[in-house]
Amino acid sequence: MNAPFPDLFGRVAIVSGGTRGIGRAIALALAARGARLVLGYRADAASAEETVRACRDLGAGAEAVPANLVHPEEVRALVATAGERVDLLVHAAALGSFKPLLEVKPAQWDLTLAVNARAFLLLARAASERMPDGGRLVGLSSLGGSRFVPEYGAIGPSKAALEAVVRSLACELGPRGILVNTVSAGLVPTDSVKLHPRFEELAAHARAASPLGRLGSPEDVAAAVLFLVSPLAAWVTGQTLVVDGGASLAT
Ligand SMILES: NC(=O)c1ccc[n+]([C@@H]2O[C@H](COP(=O)([O-])OP(=O)(O)OC[C@H]3O[C@@H](n4cnc5c(N)ncnc54)[C@H](OP(=O)(O)O)[C@@H]3O)[C@@H](O)[C@H]2O)c1
Repeated sequence: MNAPFPDLFGRVAIVSGGTRGIGRAIALALAARGARLVLGYRADAASAEETVRACRDLGAGAEAVPANLVHPEEVRALVATAGERVDLLVHAAALGSFKPLLEVKPAQWDLTLAVNARAFLLLARAASERMPDGGRLVGLSSLGGSRFVPEYGAIGPSKAALEAVVRSLACELGPRGILVNTVSAGLVPTDSVKLHPRFEELAAHARAASPLGRLGSPEDVAAAVLFLVSPLAAWVTGQTLVVDGGASLAT
């Protein structure tokens, strides 16, 4: 991850949920290549400060902005912090309760869909107004967006919605030279995922299902995001790039 490619010097990148877990790895990968970072988070200021420090240690400009993405005005404020120009936007923020879908309450459904899917649309709308030709938008999805994951609650439906939003935005923003894609990750043992009531079982299953025999790391997912924001992906838009060590191939 320390190779100089791609060069993002002078680029401004917003990473929602960029302060912890996979979002943090994405922030560091972008910072290592010279981007100036605006990192969104909800409440964990200590993680936000630590990640900002880590980005600055890499020589990048970085700031963290608390913004609860359930509120449209906070979404707009997060994007406005970046200034007049935004080159890259990655929506890594997500939430959701681990429980059977049949037990999801209406308020939990609304919250999960609002943060995981609607916020991407609102972020994309505000960011794309500031994007030059060549801008990139990336949403973070999961295998539960296209298949059954036990106790995944409303998260799976929210990720399916996110992937559909990506396809529509790719078509609407393509004529302006803005590319929109999804990275769909397999199981990555972040603090949040470890809260799943059957985490060990899911992890054992994912390890056994992957031809590579291991779980993913936040850096594995960040590398895919890096590809999608790089010149190598100049003809890729509206796609879902699955990064799961092949775990979904046989399931
Ligand atoms: N881990 C996996 O196995 C896995 C697999 C596939 C896809 N993904 C996806 O990858 C992304 C990152 O996952 P992760 O496990 O690294 O997540 P995480 O560790 O739970 O981090 C979530 C981030 O989102 C922020 N956030 C949560 N709710 C928010 C809200 N209402 N408004 C603004 N920010 C909010 C959090 O802020 P605070 O720190 O302030 O709470 C945090 O920065 C998510 O989209 C997730 O669905 C994860």
